[in-house]
This record gives sequence, structure tokens and C-alpha cells, in this order.
Amino acid sequence: MLLEVRNLSVSYGKVAAVNDVSLHVEEGSVATVLGANGAGKTSLLNAIMGVTRAQGTLRFAGQTISGWSSARRVSAGMALVPEGRRILLSLTIEENLLMGAYQRRDREIASDLGRMYELFPNLARRRNDPGSVLSGGEQQMLAIGRALMARPRLLLMDEPSLGLSPLFVREVFNLIHSLNSSGLAILLVEQNTRMALQAAQWGYVLKLGRLALEADTEELMKSDDLARAYLGDNTTAKHRLHA
Ligand SMILES: Nc1ncnc2c1ncn2[C@@H]1O[C@H](COP(=O)(O)OP(=O)(O)OP(=O)(O)O)[C@@H](O)[C@H]1O
Ligand SMILES: [Mg+2]
Repeated sequence: MLLEVRNLSVSYGKVAAVNDVSLHVEEGSVATVLGANGAGKTSLLNAIMGVTRAQGTLRFAGQTISGWSSARRVSAGMALVPEGRRILLSLTIEENLLMGAYQRRDREIASDLGRMYELFPNLARRRNDPGSVLSGGEQQMLAIGRALMARPRLLLMDEPSLGLSPLFVREVFNLIHSLNSSGLAILLVEQNTRMALQAAQWGYVLKLGRLALEADTEELMKSDDLARAYLGDNTTAKHRLHA
């Protein structure tokens, strides 16, 4: 098991954003976390990445990482593509990419940068331009490239398709597919349920901070449990799958 999250909770003062969530990501697989606005998806990813304080146990690649700084988690092989992309608009595209490698001390950073430019020709052409010249979709590619510059084994992605044109949505999901084919494990948070279920092998549904449902994505696509977990009464789904 690459990532194991056990009984994770995140609170902001009295608000329990994530409540006793357990999930896992297998080596080389794609898992997706679905849920409505405010369900706790971002809080969950940020807690896994160590940028938000949390309670519970996290294990990654055979080590217990609860309590580790996010920098140490990056060094261990985790990288986050954050919600809203968080590109630094005043820095160049290349500087943004290099930020992803800030933890690395090896000699292959330059060659990895070259691979990013092969993967994203739109970025290569404008490597010395500020991030502000990019469209929303290109900024998303830059945010993904920046995370890849950390050489992760597990990529955490927070709503990478949000606000993008259909063309870029397809590109994001094509990229997820090809990155996963090359062995990268991905934990994908999405509101684009249909695309996410197609991309992932295992799906979790968060509702008001709690895990309402989890299943093989093929099962989720076929069943009406997903709609029930999203909408009002999810007790049936819960009982069936969490009995
Ligand atoms: N920094 C914060 N301080 C206080 N409350 C917060 C903070 N961040 C999130 N929350 C609250 O925690 C809950 C979960 O928020 P979170 O952003 O994790 O959900 P989400 O599923 O990512 O939502 P979205 O789909 O809108 O991105 C919400 O009720 C939100 O208002
Ligand atoms: Mg969010």
C-alpha cells in the first residue's frame, strides 16, 4: 500500500471539516475522492500533504508520516497540485516549474525540466514569460508540471479540471491517464464525477466531512448509491458498503 490514511480528522475551531476518514491508495493506482462543495475534500488533501493540521495516522511507502513537515513529505515522494493552481504570476514559467524541485539536491533537475517542456510545449515556448501570460488551462498544466518536478510517487490533485474549457478538461484527464500508465499513483479530488470515475479504479465519496461511500469505480458508475450519497438519504449506501 502506498498511502494509508487512518481515522483522519481536521477541524477549524469548532468546525469539523474532515471527520474520521480512512482511505488508501495502492501503488500505481488512481483513487478519486468525490463530494459536493464544502464536503472536506481540500481539507483532506491538505492534511495528507501536511499543510493543514490533522489528527489520525498517515502511512506512506511503509513509513508513518503523521507529524512530518510537508517538505519532508515532498522529499518522501508526495506532491500536491493545489486547488486553484496557485501559480506565482509574477515569476516566470520556468521559475514556477523549478519551485517544484526546491527540495531536490540531485543533478537531474535540468533534464527533468526538459521533460516538462516536452510534455507541455505551450510552456516551453514561453518559459521566460511571467505566469500571468497563461490561460487558466495552461496554468493548470504548469501547476501539474511544478508538482511533477518533485518527482513524486503519489500525486495529489485538487479539482484539476475546475473552471477549464472542455478541451483542457480532456487534456487534464488524458494527462492523468498517461502519468498513471507510467506508474505514478494519483489521488484525485474532483467534482467532475463522470470523468473522475473513468480515470480512477477506486472511488470515495465524502459528505459533510465523513466518508459516505466507497467502492470500485465500475460499481459506482453502475449503481445509484453515488447519487444517494450525494443527495439526501445515504443510509442505504452506507449500510450496504460499510456494514
Ligand atoms: N481555513 C478554514 N477555516 C475555517 N473553515 C474552513 C477553512 N477551510 C475550510 N473550512 C470549512 O471546512 C469545510 C470543508 O471545506 P473544504 O474546503 O475542505 O471542502 P471542499 O470539499 O474542498 O469544498 P470545495 O468543493 O468548495 O472545494 C467547509 O465547511 C469549509 O467552510
Ligand atoms: Mg476544495
